[in-house]
Amino acid sequence: MITIIGAGKVGGSAALFTALKKLDDQILLLDIIDGLPQGEAMDINHMLSEQGIDVEVKGSNDYSEMKGSDIVVVVAGSGRKPGMTRMDLLKINTGIVKSVVEKIKMHANDSVIISVTNPLDPMTYICYKISGFEKNRVIGMGGMLDISRFIHFIHEATGYSRNSIKALVIGEHGENMLPLPRFSSVTGIPLTSLLPKEKLDEIVNSTKQVAAKVIALKGATIHAPGNGISTIIDSVVNDRKQVIPVTTYLNGEYGYSDVTIGVPAVVGRNGVEKIIELDLNEVEKDVFKKGIESVKNAISSIEI
Ligand code: NAI
Repeated sequence: MITIIGAGKVGGSAALFTALKKLDDQILLLDIIDGLPQGEAMDINHMLSEQGIDVEVKGSNDYSEMKGSDIVVVVAGSGRKPGMTRMDLLKINTGIVKSVVEKIKMHANDSVIISVTNPLDPMTYICYKISGFEKNRVIGMGGMLDISRFIHFIHEATGYSRNSIKALVIGEHGENMLPLPRFSSVTGIPLTSLLPKEKLDEIVNSTKQVAAKVIALKGATIHAPGNGISTIIDSVVNDRKQVIPVTTYLNGEYGYSDVTIGVPAVVGRNGVEKIIELDLNEVEKDVFKKGIESVKNAISSIEI
């Protein structure tokens, strides 16, 4: 069973993609609002009937129903309002994520946690510390979403199929996000040889800023993160060993310890199975360091 805690906009979308991709027979949506997860589950089940897919989605307000879950997605909490940064959510969401992870410990102690609530990197740290799970069993979803945006802008600039584009974004899922043109390509052809520096800079900036634009226009980002969550679930349940940028706990990698941040990693049955260390140049290292400092500051300002 796959459990999604937080049946709001992103949780509902994640349930939809997970069901459509048939990643498990049973999906449980949990929320504190009476009726919301039940209604969302009904809506998705009706869509599944149209599709002829025999996946059962259930909605509940009872955390004990997550017992035996293989994966638990933590997407409960407030989202950004127009003009807010992800870090503005730190205080509000810390209490929510702490209480949710206590429930996971109680009812799904053998699961893999996929953390999504913002600010993503500090919330993933909370998931890791409060759960007491091995570090590989706590995966933060942020980089998947960031690369989807990077790919979109590369597609727009080149006109080439999204399918041919491989792009990488690491670092903080926030103000110090680090899109990496040097580690991105179109079917192996380095992006840096296809586009001039000014265009690359423009694409990098758009990738960093576009979430705020979507929030200003429609109030929230929903389907790209919903699908990003299902991609990580797929990699775990099907042991795909996909190389995905995920937020994970660093223990000396990239020269940092006791911090959670986005890095490329192999994701399979055991969660984060291997962190891949890149040979960053000085400019890239500097942005990555700023991200580390931002996440560390956030972590030190909350009680865990
Ligand atoms: P939303 O407000 O639509 O849904 C959040 C849901 O969490 C609500 O239904 C609320 O009742 C529920 N909730 C609150 N406390 C709870 C608890 N203790 N137990 C169970 N459910 C609880 O918000 P939305 O748009 O779905 O966003 C959710 C979170 O995901 C936000 O923090 C947002 O910033 C984050 N997010 C993260 C992304 C990423 O890439 N990591 C991308 C997009 C959103």
